[in-house]
Amino acid sequence: MENGNDKALRILVQKIPKLPTLPMIAERILGMVDDDVASVEAIEETIAQDPAIAAKVLSFANAAFYGSGEPVLSVRDAVMKIGFKNIRSIALGISLMTIFSENREKFASAYHRIFLHSVSVGVISRQIAEKVAGELADKAFIAGLLHDIGQLVINKYFDEEYQRIIDEFNQGLFLVDAEKKVLGITHADIGVWLADKWNLPTVIQDAIEFHHMPSAATDNRMLVALIHVGNAVASRHSLGIIESEPVNAFDSSALDILGISEKDLETIESGLDKQAFPGELFQ
Ligand SMILES: [Fe+2]
Ligand SMILES: [Fe+2]
Repeated sequence: MENGNDKALRILVQKIPKLPTLPMIAERILGMVDDDVASVEAIEETIAQDPAIAAKVLSFANAAFYGSGEPVLSVRDAVMKIGFKNIRSIALGISLMTIFSENREKFASAYHRIFLHSVSVGVISRQIAEKVAGELADKAFIAGLLHDIGQLVINKYFDEEYQRIIDEFNQGLFLVDAEKKVLGITHADIGVWLADKWNLPTVIQDAIEFHHMPSAATDNRMLVALIHVGNAVASRHSLGIIESEPVNAFDSSALDILGISEKDLETIESGLDKQAFPGELFQ
């Protein structure tokens, strides 16, 4: 039977006039995700089909992976220097994020802020993953970039509700509680609904769904915990997040899942590569 959450979600999404479809570039990259030997030419050709995305991928690659070195100038150069998988992740995440930027008028600054926050969470989660679970670094970046995609849906399609959520938030509610009060569901519910519609891998869906409540996840717990912690670190440093804090409660069981202490996290946090926050790239 449909529960209250499902019902609220169904009613809400019925009001979305025309949801963007999965961009071609993302669809092609997702098709290569399990293909470790996909050629450099294939990824280069895919990214080059969309010059706006290609430009953002290069900017991001330079900032996030190549801080002080010689800049990468072409997608091929980026693949060579930064690695096929990293470039693929960046192109996928960015192509999915930017589709909500089209025709922005109202709340454009909110969009920009959510985007910056998402990039920060992607970069931070990736850096933490490299310290505690290297094999998840790639996925941590993509999941971090997409974890708040539900916020972009609310921001784009539900102007009036978005304003009410922000008002409630400014009155002191956590963001997810404000969303529950206004919409009956949260941006995590909307995000995972969209990710499912787009057929994103379940590991990414889990990270989106549980990023505010990592102990509720039954699968992919490491990745979920990475995004929860990455989100908290990004918020703590006010990297692109809504002005007043806190946005959500921190669930310290995420640290247990990662097998690290508060102190370890502090050490990791102080060692984060600050070069890697491409704050002004996405104006
Ligand atoms: Fe969130
Ligand atoms: Fe977030």
